[in-house]
Amino acid sequence: VTSPWDPLGRALLAYQEGQHDAEILVESDLFETEVVPVAAYYRPAEVDLPELEQHALKACCGRVLDVGAGAGRHALELQATGLAVTALDISPAASAVMRARGVHRVVAGDLWGFEGGSFDTVLTLMNGLGVVGDLAGLQRWLEKLHDVVGPGGSILCDSSDLAAAFETDDPDACQPRTAQLQRGEVRFRLRFRECRGGWYRWLFCPEEELRTVALRTGWTTEILRRSDRAAFLARLRSTDRVIL
Ligand SMILES: C[S@@+](CC[C@H](N)C(=O)[O-])C[C@H]1O[C@@H](n2cnc3c(N)ncnc32)[C@H](O)[C@@H]1O
Repeated sequence: VTSPWDPLGRALLAYQEGQHDAEILVESDLFETEVVPVAAYYRPAEVDLPELEQHALKACCGRVLDVGAGAGRHALELQATGLAVTALDISPAASAVMRARGVHRVVAGDLWGFEGGSFDTVLTLMNGLGVVGDLAGLQRWLEKLHDVVGPGGSILCDSSDLAAAFETDDPDACQPRTAQLQRGEVRFRLRFRECRGGWYRWLFCPEEELRTVALRTGWTTEILRRSDRAAFLARLRSTDRVIL
């Protein structure tokens, strides 16, 4: 068993080397196994970014930290508009791909150990909030981000509300599955050819849960956009710390 993100790293390198039809398998403890084209992590010139992501990029300002930056499709776009972007990713291969694609500031590292200074915008996209793993992780990360987001700065993140996305009227719907959809805590495992990663947790954060945890940790939440499959883009700004 390799680390959870190794298969994605290898897949990104394969694409970078010209294998544009490369695909990864995404297994989970909630959904059917999915086949995802690696192209989804790049942005071939002919493909527009989804509207929600375009809106997120327009809302970025100043010094930007892109967390879980992958192959750098957002970092490159922001850099092209003149913003100072730092792209952080735990995968050494993803980081190498970003450097090769021209991202100027790349940090290969874990968001939990990141101490790279102060930013005006912390961005995380592609169900980006999931990177915190679970609801306990969300609380821990939002506490930590007070040291990373400078005065007047914000966090821009997308997520989706699984219970709303998979709403069912079926009284026989499986209860454990329904409860898991409501919590949005899912385990995944990636596979690229012979490389299979370990299981990791990924959070799909319900909107109300985000508001509650954010408020508890000193952030206000504004929903900037909603899109299909109950996806949403949120902006969090620091408040005076609220004691509940
Ligand atoms: C779903 S991908 C999204 C990539 C990119 N944001 C995009 O939209 O194309 C998640 C990325 O987060 C990175 N990642 C996962 N856990 C991380 C952590 N603890 N710290 C930093 N990066 C992490 C993975 O290596 C992967 O590239």
